[in-house]
Amino acid sequence: MTTTTACSIAVLMATVILVAAATLSAAAGRCNVRKDLVIRQSLGEPQRDLSAKYTVEVVNQCSGDKERTGRPCSISKIHLQCGNFRSLVPVDPKLLRRIGSGVCLLNNGHSVRQNGNVSFVYANYRRNNLYVRSARCN
Ligand SMILES: *[C@@H]1O[C@H](CO)[C@@H](O)[C@H](O)[C@H]1NC(C)=O
Repeated sequence: MTTTTACSIAVLMATVILVAAATLSAAAGRCNVRKDLVIRQSLGEPQRDLSAKYTVEVVNQCSGDKERTGRPCSISKIHLQCGNFRSLVPVDPKLLRRIGSGVCLLNNGHSVRQNGNVSFVYANYRRNNLYVRSARCN
């Protein structure tokens, strides 16, 4: 093997590694589901029976990766830590339903587009705390 060939191979390998690293960081940098999914919950509108009506909005605020891939980001399979979630008024199970102990599935697992949100109303005697447990960035 000549020095020139060895050198070309080294350059080629370095290029492959760089491209792979760039691809990985693009995928990883697309969204951070804990940061990009913002859960807004209203203060609670008092009802006659001492309960309150709360409006929840789960907003996808990821900024996407328009420069590199030209693709916006959507987030799917959103699982919330919802404790003992209860509502005195029915909540559409397609919007939120309990699927296990303390775990609720949002939007039937379907994706929420960039800048989009899923919103629902529930009523209870106290606020149900909701947190993002896991989700998938697409
Ligand atoms: C949530 O979506 C609704 C309907 O598309 C929109 O009117 C509302 O402004 C959105 N809320 C947020 C916080 O983005």
